[in-house]
Amino acid sequence: MKMSLRKTLGVASLLSLSLAAASQAHAAVCSYTLNNEWNTGFQGTVSITNNGTTAINGWTVGWSYANNRITNSWNATLTGNNPYSASALNWNSTIQPGQSVTFGVQGNKNGSTAEIPTITGSVCSSVTSSSSVPTTSSSSAPSSTPRSSSSSVVSISSSSQASQCAAVSQCNWYGTLYPTCTTTVSGWGYENGKSCISTATCAAQPSPFGVVAGCGVTSSSATTSSAATSSSSSVRSSSSSILSSSSIATSPSSSSVASVSSSSVVSISSRSSSSLSSSSSSVTSAGPRMDNPFVGAQWYIDPIWSAKAMAETGGSKVANYNTAVWMDRIGAIAPTDGSWGLRDHLDAALDQNANVIQVVVYDLPNRDCHALASNGELTQGVEGTTRYRAEYVDVLASIFADPKYRSLRIIAIIEPDSLPNLVTNLSTPACQQAADATHGYVPNTRYTLSKFYPITNVYSYVDIGHSGWLGWTDNFGKAVTLIGDAIKGATGGVNSVAGFVSNTSGYTPLYEPFLDSLANSAFPGSGGGTQTRQAKFYEWNPHFSEVSFVTAWRNAMISAGFPSNIGMLVDTSRNGWGGANRPTAQSTSTVLDTFVDQSRIDRRAHRGNWCNQRGGVGERPQVAPVAGIDAYVWVKPPGESDGAASLELSYDPQDPAKGFDRNCDPTFTNASGTNTGAMPNAPVAGRWFSAGFKQLVDNAYPPLE
Ligand code: BGC
Repeated sequence: MKMSLRKTLGVASLLSLSLAAASQAHAAVCSYTLNNEWNTGFQGTVSITNNGTTAINGWTVGWSYANNRITNSWNATLTGNNPYSASALNWNSTIQPGQSVTFGVQGNKNGSTAEIPTITGSVCSSVTSSSSVPTTSSSSAPSSTPRSSSSSVVSISSSSQASQCAAVSQCNWYGTLYPTCTTTVSGWGYENGKSCISTATCAAQPSPFGVVAGCGVTSSSATTSSAATSSSSSVRSSSSSILSSSSIATSPSSSSVASVSSSSVVSISSRSSSSLSSSSSSVTSAGPRMDNPFVGAQWYIDPIWSAKAMAETGGSKVANYNTAVWMDRIGAIAPTDGSWGLRDHLDAALDQNANVIQVVVYDLPNRDCHALASNGELTQGVEGTTRYRAEYVDVLASIFADPKYRSLRIIAIIEPDSLPNLVTNLSTPACQQAADATHGYVPNTRYTLSKFYPITNVYSYVDIGHSGWLGWTDNFGKAVTLIGDAIKGATGGVNSVAGFVSNTSGYTPLYEPFLDSLANSAFPGSGGGTQTRQAKFYEWNPHFSEVSFVTAWRNAMISAGFPSNIGMLVDTSRNGWGGANRPTAQSTSTVLDTFVDQSRIDRRAHRGNWCNQRGGVGERPQVAPVAGIDAYVWVKPPGESDGAASLELSYDPQDPAKGFDRNCDPTFTNASGTNTGAMPNAPVAGRWFSAGFKQLVDNAYPPLE
């Protein structure tokens, strides 16, 4: 582990570097590309390519239009109102030599044509401008095909389709809302070929990436009454099934959209199932693994999550951060319901010029054995093991190993909560089964790690619960042995992992600013006789917070034979604990429990409360924030539920194994008198929970700008 490198990448250093960079000349090419235009609007991207030999740390560029005006942007902070100025977000402020950063804008043409302005900025040593808008003349095909991997073909063959597309040109395309129109638009990124259906959400927020502009362009190409055919990867593979002629013909749901006659139906030849899983199984030679794969991160922004965040009040403050992609079912890898699968995300990461993407591996047989909210599709036994390995892990591995993804550092978050359950919850029958030596968590985790180990751009981080779970000395010691041995039994032994991840989907803070220093000493008000950790909230646990816990964990694993360069990750997506109730000083109470309760920033009634808590967004994703910590990451996408708040809300046809856990029920108080603290009305685990998202934004700490 290169400590000095970690230090140079601290936030303070980055800030000072970026200030210095503002006055430096750089060898960057700045380009404005017009990607799409339609009757009233346009969409463009600006890219900054560092052709120099030193990193660019921080950038600002500007431009202006004669008539066009911007209505929204993504991947940059936009200020001004013609002229416009765009500056870096924290995750894309560094541009390494040879790398590019791209951000996008969408706007109104204001009765004019789509303009192609010239970019200015001290970072630019040269500027270029271009248009990649497809020609709309008869029988024209879109001029560029952003990805080449798909065999999907979309054909639009009638002008009635065109008017429909125009009608939904502002629709939202994410989630389960799908179109009554389809587009073959080429141009930029993964919005290509997006289908837009749900007229119910038309004119709602455009996604920062999806832009939906595709419909408009399809309109313009189709209004020429010509056939437009694209071989783009547009169909985003999985959406193909919902675009079958029958589903399109029967699904229009709003009178604002002309119904589609069967003759105007879009025909799509979907990816063959073999192509979904036929990626090279040969192991990628992506070069040796990095010590810390987050150094120089160009983080992937999941457009699906990002669009949901953007649609919420205040969501734009978080929508541009990296969140993990959860592979929480076999069917999540290559869905057939129109939602994005693994390749869609990896392809989108390539489109974004990202180099870091997090993928959560979460489908062990008997998953979530001590709870009900996130039970999985597989059960312990021969069949569960066979399916887990063949239909899940092997498929993930073969996709990860596709040479086209070699430039991505794939951060694999390995099976949240699983091995920790074997440490503390063996009294639960499902966990007892999960301890099986042949079909349990350990042998199956070993299989996963062994399978990923040869793929050198995959970095496995094994989940270790959190400090409020494994922090007690007894649990800690058992966990070090159990988890350490589990990993040592994989093919790559201790080298199978890049490190460990704590607090996945958790709420435990990074620090307890007013208590950490007392975690292993006497309570000041006691005259020396009482340890602070004797407080009810800590129950003798010597780790009050995550940084303390992961630092101790890392040291213990190195002592247990793991390499000295292992790194830790902490999920900070929901452990901010800001808002009005955040203490601002240490309590002066001389009563231990009062002192602790008034001093702690963690506002939960109990550290074991885990479901839909009223926490806040925590530290933003960050590289090497503390020695030994590779990154703060957002594994749990803010806004996604931990579990259904009531029995009535708990059935999900897509995920029937997920159950109702009373820990998610706000009305439930357990035998020890602790209320769950869960928010009401939450949907099934993983589903969007608007009120939960709002709470997280409101309680963010550090506060969101
Ligand atoms: C759920 C998953 C979901 C994940 C992220 C888990 O609790 O079980 O289905 O993908 O959270 O929201």
